[in-house]
Amino acid sequence: MRLTLSVIKADIGSIGGHTKPSTRMMAAVEGEVAKAICDGLLIDGFVCHTGDDIAIIMTHTRGEGSSEVHQLAWKAFLAATSVAKTSGLYGAGQDLLVDAPSGNVRGAGPGVAELSFDHSLSGTRPAESFMVFAADKCGPGAYNLPLYLAFADPMYCAGLMLPPMIKGFRFHVIDMDNTDGDSVIELDAPAEGYHIAALLRDNERFGIDRIISRTHGEVAVAVSAQRLHAIAGKYTGKDDPVAIVRNQGIFPAPEEIISPFAKAHFVGGDARGSHVMPLMPVPINTPVTGMYCLPIVSCAGFSIDKDGRFSESYTDFFDNPAWDEVRRRAQSKAIEMRSQGWSGAAMLPYSELEYGGFRDTVSALLKRFQLREERKPEAAE
Ligand code: 13P
Ligand code: 13P
Ligand code: MG
Ligand code: MG
Ligand code: MG
Repeated sequence: MRLTLSVIKADIGSIGGHTKPSTRMMAAVEGEVAKAICDGLLIDGFVCHTGDDIAIIMTHTRGEGSSEVHQLAWKAFLAATSVAKTSGLYGAGQDLLVDAPSGNVRGAGPGVAELSFDHSLSGTRPAESFMVFAADKCGPGAYNLPLYLAFADPMYCAGLMLPPMIKGFRFHVIDMDNTDGDSVIELDAPAEGYHIAALLRDNERFGIDRIISRTHGEVAVAVSAQRLHAIAGKYTGKDDPVAIVRNQGIFPAPEEIISPFAKAHFVGGDARGSHVMPLMPVPINTPVTGMYCLPIVSCAGFSIDKDGRFSESYTDFFDNPAWDEVRRRAQSKAIEMRSQGWSGAAMLPYSELEYGGFRDTVSALLKRFQLREERKPEAAE
């Protein structure tokens, strides 16, 4: 069976500010997903949230970009938006940027990550397991560094030295500044690892779109690398990306994939989407309530049975005391960074802020600048 994994996520409203969706909103999305499973559109589905973003994780056989699957996600988000509006929640319908997308919701606001594979539970994949990362309060390049380290650096993934992975992985890197369409370059690690790094260092412009095994041609990773402000033409909240990562066997093991997140590396995001702050790993369904509004990332793991259904439960990778140490470090890095307020590296450059009000403030000031008349030399006494 050709199985597709689709993760579609959106921020459609939250309680008490941009913290988390309400229980009734979650129930509205879960209800639509349950109906779609009953109707045979989906094989299985799971709904969770990270901060104020609701993610729908689905298996089906309709392929990537299926208008039926995307329309189901849109319908579920509309149902939750209606709940959010009735309850007077903050940012109701925030990420639904067009009135009614005709098919695929890519480019309409929700984040989309999808990948497909032949699902037979034999050959190179006697078992199928994968993880879904979901981040809030950050830009789409948040996974650039951790995924590069997991799939291209044996210091983080010793498994890369094993025969199934030693040929490396092909990275599809997307130029998110190109608004004409998906502009993608394919580069092979390890041979072109430095070229990949040269692009991925710019988290705001370049993002990993896909990673593919060079030995088996199997897709390992899909990321929702799209810019909301490129769609809306203005700041409408942060991109808050999701990623699907298949693991074990011909791919890195879960611990090799999550260990780079122990860095709590700095990403663009946080309050007003304008700061540079560490990415804190958290359990799924965590609200954003700490001081500042720290970028957070969750990671849920699933197995898939022979019919394409999820295991009866999931593994919450960051819900473990081992990550408390990382969370504390993320918080102390955050306090350090924010102690310098608006100055220099603590906030994103103006090129990134141009879709928001900060740019307007500076543009208005720029109009008031005047060339000073040349100072006359002091008359000699
Ligand atoms: P076990 O399956 O024996 O627990 O080992 C898994 C593994 O290789 C760890 O990466
Ligand atoms: P989101 O609504 O996209 O999470 O971003 C809110 C924000 O701008 C943080 O202040
Ligand atoms: Mg929000
Ligand atoms: Mg969000
Ligand atoms: Mg957002």
